[in-house]
Amino acid sequence: MQIVSTEASPAPGLSFAHFIAGLGGMLAAALLLAWQPEALLTRWHPATLAAVHLFALAGMMPVMLGALFQFVPVACGLALPRFGAGDWLLLAALQTGAGGLAAGFLNGSVLSLSLGGSLALLALLTAGARLAWALWRQKLSAALVASLRRGALALFATLALATVLLGVMSHGWQLPFMALVDWHAQWGLAGWIGGLIAAVAGMVVPMFHVTENYPQRWERALRLLLPALVCSGLGMLSGQAWLACLAVILLAALAAGFGLISARRVLASRRGEKDAFHYGWLLVALLAMLLAPLGLVAHFSTDPRWGMAFGITALAGLGGITVSVMLYRIVPFLIWLHWQRANKARARLPLLHRIVPEAGQRIELAAEALAVGLLAAATFFPALALPAATLLALARLGQILLLSHAMLDFRERLAVLRSLPPKVRPASH
Ligand code: HEM
Repeated sequence: MQIVSTEASPAPGLSFAHFIAGLGGMLAAALLLAWQPEALLTRWHPATLAAVHLFALAGMMPVMLGALFQFVPVACGLALPRFGAGDWLLLAALQTGAGGLAAGFLNGSVLSLSLGGSLALLALLTAGARLAWALWRQKLSAALVASLRRGALALFATLALATVLLGVMSHGWQLPFMALVDWHAQWGLAGWIGGLIAAVAGMVVPMFHVTENYPQRWERALRLLLPALVCSGLGMLSGQAWLACLAVILLAALAAGFGLISARRVLASRRGEKDAFHYGWLLVALLAMLLAPLGLVAHFSTDPRWGMAFGITALAGLGGITVSVMLYRIVPFLIWLHWQRANKARARLPLLHRIVPEAGQRIELAAEALAVGLLAAATFFPALALPAATLLALARLGQILLLSHAMLDFRERLAVLRSLPPKVRPASH
């Protein structure tokens, strides 16, 4: 594995803004579902489509982009180019665009859908191009770089199909809409979100759980992810159901494999601590394993509720919970790192694991997991939808408070540390 150093890790302010903006997007999605709980009855409900994009575009996307600012330099030794004020503009464009797209779904306004969708697309294409520039300049063909490249390709495929879908909806292009929506959703969920989780896990799980690397066999199997997604779409578009089925079986096997390998790694951890990070990654592994049979049932069953349950478990479950688990590690680590760098006076600082209280992390993660389980169950038992969405909103709100408190404390202490005179080591004779 190739770990360079944290030297290239940029100041965390911009990443923190992305994290809080993203958590706000996820909160908005949960509040929307609490407002219109009947959305869970069908995937085509306007509020479902709006909530999906608030969660994925205004929620997970900024968190993932903010984390990549820190992750790419540390993992690949190459900083993402910064655009100065343009970075903030990009974040604002993404959130405004995602909001406009969601509003367009909700009120059926084609104008809002097109304007919001185009703005979000523009922001993401720019962010994606920057990521691709850094990843393809990297000469080393480390497994991590290859995984991140796959994630970037999947993002471009998701966006290309999103452009086509917008064309169908706003210009009436005569194309097989349903197959294209399914393909777009698969690229977004399995390719971009799943691919990025697999890439990050390949580095984070062995490093932070002090365990063996993922096996070479797994790295080779992961190369099948994009071909499977291509075959799935070709199968759906050409009416070759067997090809689409084969691809779905392969995707399910990859999800199950990822879950199984990750669970074994976490259970064999030599770190010895059974904290929120430990249980959080176990949960991520279990969710990946659960998605395999759920995806197969959703594909082969004629009952559309399975598809809804699958989508909720994939997006709010695997995607949302991985984001939470990683944020509870990234935010304290960045705070601690940048305090250390500024601490020329060698003042006493809070311990790393005290920066975001462990009890708060556990409660929030448990509430989020319960809310996702209830949301998925609500597709069969609609009475659960309102309590589930309310619980999810409360969990996200709690998380925003927990993390923003740590970020404010970071700023205050950093200012103090910078104002202190450096401690001079007595000269040794
Ligand atoms: C700017 C970027 C995007 C645009 C413009 C966009 C647009 C769309 C459109 C027009 C639909 C079809 C809605 C309908 O059937 O009426 C759709 C569906 C969907 N999109 Fe996106 N999308 C974008 C990004 C993403 C991303 C990044 C994800 C990541 C997971 C995603 C996940 C989905 C899913 C899961 C569906 C199916 C929803 C359902 O069946 O209920 N989209 N998108």
